[in-house]
Amino acid sequence: MINTQEIRKQFPIINLNINRSNLIYFDNGATTQNPQNVIDTEKEYYEKMNANVHRGAHFLSSHATEKFEESRKSVQSFINAKSVKEIVFTKGTTESINLVANGFRSILKKDDEVLITEMEHHSNIVPWQICCKYAGAKLRVVPVKENGDLDMVSLKSMLNNKTKLVALTHISNALGTINPIEDICKLSHSFGAKILIDGAQAISHIKVDVQKLNVDFYCFSSHKMYGSTGVGVLYGKEELLNDLPPYQSGGEMIKDVSFEKTTYADLPYKFEAGTPNIAGVISLKSSIDFICKIGIDNIKNHENTLLNYATLELKKIKDLQILGTSKNKSGIISFNINSLHAYDIGVLLDKMGIAIRTGHHCAQPLMKRFNIAGTARISFAVYNTKDEIEKCIAAIKKSKKMLL
Ligand code: ALA
Repeated sequence: MINTQEIRKQFPIINLNINRSNLIYFDNGATTQNPQNVIDTEKEYYEKMNANVHRGAHFLSSHATEKFEESRKSVQSFINAKSVKEIVFTKGTTESINLVANGFRSILKKDDEVLITEMEHHSNIVPWQICCKYAGAKLRVVPVKENGDLDMVSLKSMLNNKTKLVALTHISNALGTINPIEDICKLSHSFGAKILIDGAQAISHIKVDVQKLNVDFYCFSSHKMYGSTGVGVLYGKEELLNDLPPYQSGGEMIKDVSFEKTTYADLPYKFEAGTPNIAGVISLKSSIDFICKIGIDNIKNHENTLLNYATLELKKIKDLQILGTSKNKSGIISFNINSLHAYDIGVLLDKMGIAIRTGHHCAQPLMKRFNIAGTARISFAVYNTKDEIEKCIAAIKKSKKMLL
């Protein structure tokens, strides 16, 4: 059991008044709010250690570098990676995926195959389209079943010796489906394919152990785990990261530069060209501390209780359809109410202080699969409560009456 009231006290934004109502923030799939310890760490960085990392001989630079590398260690232990060399800081999940997709341009050969799924976010579709086009490889899409589960029978039949990479999401941002990553890894590896996971919607909601899952690459963002925007992580097995060419080039990623030849830095610095979001990386450790103090399994159970309760209550609303009814779901509920436009529902809820996301959720092919333009989406985090759900349900009913 977690003490939600104590947790809520740590989030200053939760007390905001929006449109004369206390904010109910149900747009955690888009970004999560920051607890006080994360905000304090950012502030402390600018007040007491602002300097560039890995560069200066002076006190501030060494101090910032030490904190920056501490954060890397914290990420390593959080996801149970073998080594800090396997933790690359990027600016977000999208950049992490792009880094790998860019590298695979030179690894893939003509007629090789890359598998993605119908439930991917655009950021796990477009980089592979570009990559495959560049390499002359074929991009194939595994279908999604009516309830939002991945069609495992099709996945099995689509894997073959030409499949060089399988890229899929751990948890669908639009359906909430939790994919069976460990099984998919075993299956993909049995065909010699590597596997990349978009973990943006999973990292702060369920336990991620990259060695247990046996993923080859795992990507996530700090802002979806109670941290800053502009910071992401690419986990990659050391030998695979070594085989990838640099993504961006310039300062920090080199060993030696001359006009004739440049040699690259060792992992993970080979992939960290330029000055990063130092405050954001340092405060990622505070986000991880926040999550670990509560316990990721406690967070999962709390969000699961919210999911079950909200699903039950939403189902009681006449003409409301939930998109994504997998048995294995995370705290994301997408819905439509017959002919009503999701955007109109979102605007009316906002007028009552409730923040949700509406639209295609950067998953247009998935919307097309279900023959809809978009949905209204509620997504939970650890600070949400049953009481907030009750208010949201009442607000949805009120909106429905106003719009019909
Ligand atoms: N990918 C984020 C979402 O699903 C932005 O809302």
